[in-house]
Amino acid sequence: MKIALGSDHAGFELKEKIKEFLTSMGHQVEDMGCYSTDSVDYPVYGAKVARVVAENAVERGILVCGTGLGMSMVANRFTGVRAALCHEPFTAQMARRHNNANILVLGGRVLGDALALEIVKVFLETPFEGGRHARRVEMIENIVKEDGNETPKTN
Ligand code: RB5
Repeated sequence: MKIALGSDHAGFELKEKIKEFLTSMGHQVEDMGCYSTDSVDYPVYGAKVARVVAENAVERGILVCGTGLGMSMVANRFTGVRAALCHEPFTAQMARRHNNANILVLGGRVLGDALALEIVKVFLETPFEGGRHARRVEMIENIVKEDGNETPKTN
């Protein structure tokens, strides 16, 4: 699978571990930075990864910042991106099965390495269930198409 990776300084070390893990599993990894623990701004790297996922240039993205919050906020601004912040494997599994999430977001200051890698594995291996969930995911995309930034109409 072709996977884009990105982090800020707070996620750099976990991103490096994830890169090694994915490469050892035979995935094609595109590391979009950052490249050290020097302080950087997470929106820059979140946007880089979200853009290639939105353009379908890669199948999935993985983003890491300190908490995962900033990266989630950035990535979910991009049409077609469904970024899921996960702190344990069950949420990662459901993010794929029900939400067809295409970006996994992790908190480098929240998770231990072993748990983070387990979440990554589950996220990559779990398929989307489709069916009623496909209709609901399409509804998310339609909110942006039909209403722009307005609160979605409920009836
Ligand atoms: C960086 O200090 C931190 O704010 C960032 O990694 C992230 O947690 C933001 O949401």
